[in-house]
Amino acid sequence: MGKSSKDKRDAYYRLAKEEGWRARSAYKLLQLDEEFNLFEGVTRVVDLCAAPGSWSQVLSRILIKGEKFGRAGWEEKQEKARLYVLGEEAHNDKLAPPVTEKREGLNPRQDVKIVAIDLQPMSPLEGITMLRADITHPSTIPLLLQALDPETFDLSATSASHPVDLVLSDGAPDVTGLHDLDIYVQSQLLWAALNLALCVLKPGGKFVAKIFRGKDVDLLYAQLKLVFDRVRVAKPRSSRASSIEAFIVCEGFCPPEGFKASLENPLGAGATLPAGNQVGSERTKPYRRLREDGITELELGSDDEETSDDIRWIAPFLACGDLSAYDADASYHLPKDRQSLDPIQPPTAPPYKRALEMRKAAGGAYGKTKGL
Ligand SMILES: C[S@@+](CC[C@H](N)C(=O)[O-])C[C@H]1O[C@@H](n2cnc3c(N)ncnc32)[C@H](O)[C@@H]1O
Repeated sequence: MGKSSKDKRDAYYRLAKEEGWRARSAYKLLQLDEEFNLFEGVTRVVDLCAAPGSWSQVLSRILIKGEKFGRAGWEEKQEKARLYVLGEEAHNDKLAPPVTEKREGLNPRQDVKIVAIDLQPMSPLEGITMLRADITHPSTIPLLLQALDPETFDLSATSASHPVDLVLSDGAPDVTGLHDLDIYVQSQLLWAALNLALCVLKPGGKFVAKIFRGKDVDLLYAQLKLVFDRVRVAKPRSSRASSIEAFIVCEGFCPPEGFKASLENPLGAGATLPAGNQVGSERTKPYRRLREDGITELELGSDDEETSDDIRWIAPFLACGDLSAYDADASYHLPKDRQSLDPIQPPTAPPYKRALEMRKAAGGAYGKTKGL
């Protein structure tokens, strides 16, 4: 597909180049923030599976530079529209200003710490610590703890001495098209991200991760509900409706009493969650119970608006992103004289790099041009 054609078919791909984002994924995070106000009071963040770095760019611009995007930007836009209707100020209907545009009223936060991790190398971003590591490998946990607290890092530690407010994970495998396999590998990434989150999140912290909505995804929601007060699923407008991708937004980290994140025995590798809390003669929910037939039952707490004791717990599902934002599945006309831009950050070491080199060495596409 040519660049112009891709610009036409993918409004967010085009917009990302125009507005200075390394990837169109930036809009997913911004639209999630519009709905969930993710960055309120947040200064310490871990960005997992972060390459090429558009989520880290969002973090850097909101937390380090103090710009208004996502929820804050949306609220500003609403206010401008209101004033415009009242005839008090000009209307600015842009989704976000380009990187180069100077913004007034910057409000940088104090003591910001952002650590980004990916298997792929990433071009540096000011103020962000980048690690090249595999989030599914146990050796990544000490690397992350050290990056978060280089001064106080203790090799025997299993949790952060200064925990973080928010863990993000946009991890995705190289999809094969075999849905069951893709969903399985994706769920392994999610477990790895959750285990890292358990080691570094502060009570009340948030965890936001990409999921593939496949069969039995309800079980995943139920498991997350054991360690978070509120679990919701969201589909940003910039995520194609045709894709099974969605994002799980977990708020209010509340590990059950007695739970301790552990490197040797991570969640998912055995019965790590305690059997339940006891208050007097009553057992409080959520809790885990091992039945005589060997099946483990999970009992979730009831939460008036979302659950009831006699029905299966289903995570609320929300579409997010302003309705005026582009539709990720629609094609848009481009002006005739429009110049197509190059991506802001071409991949530094893409998995297909060697294939390209081999193709070049063979004389061009499929090697057919050599010697002609
Ligand atoms: C959709 S991209 C992330 C885009 C990123 N959020 C952004 O805004 O630029 C998915 C990333 O997951 C990374 N990834 C996949 N498996 C991983 C693993 N086991 N450990 C670390 N990163 C992984 C890939 O290298 C890829 O860069």
